Amino acid sequence: MANSTNITWHDSAVVKADRRQHLKQSSFILWFTGLSGSGKSTLSVALEQYLFQQGYLVYRLDGDNIRHGLNSNLGFSPDDRTENIRRIGEVSKLFVDAGVIAMTAFISPYQADRALVRAMVEPGEFVEIYVECSVEACEQRDTKGLYAKARRGEIKEFTGVSAPYEAPTQPEITIATEGKTVTECVQQLVTALETKGYLQRP
Ligand code: ADX
Repeated sequence: MANSTNITWHDSAVVKADRRQHLKQSSFILWFTGLSGSGKSTLSVALEQYLFQQGYLVYRLDGDNIRHGLNSNLGFSPDDRTENIRRIGEVSKLFVDAGVIAMTAFISPYQADRALVRAMVEPGEFVEIYVECSVEACEQRDTKGLYAKARRGEIKEFTGVSAPYEAPTQPEITIATEGKTVTECVQQLVTALETKGYLQRP
């Protein structure tokens, strides 16, 4: 994996705990996973806004946006998706180190890729949020018209249609979005985060 040689790690004089203290918050990754159209982006945008208004410093990384820049050289083959998630994991880890709450909204269809990100950070710093929604409901929403294209064969390897989605088996939080408003879902997420102690101030 590593192609670089003769490189040495340099520690900073300021560490994660200092930055968390400075920001008066804990830092972790809120990792949203689910099918395209399940509600990852919508919920993460709304939750980001809520947490920011509550005084938390949060930063959101979103599949469609990151694929315009950092990951613009990646497609949707299994290998490219794995690399997509690995890079996002590394970037999220930097945010956690910076004391910021990172939020990510990527399909991240493979269990192994999500496990890899979980292993990159310290225990308790990876909060997997399964945005649960049936393929049928996502397809009915079809906000971007991609399911129709996938059914017509115009998009290959489309998650839920012609590529797999491996649902989390032990996510920290599951949010079922079918038949619920965004506000209801955000309230449920906030309650879950509070109950699990993530929103406590150090
Ligand atoms: S992931 O599988 O590598 O995690 P990511 O979340 O970055 O995917 O990107 C998913 C978004 O890319 C979808 O919401 C959709 O808008 C778009 N997309 C384009 N082609 C595909 C495809 N073949 N499968 C899934 N999503 C696709």
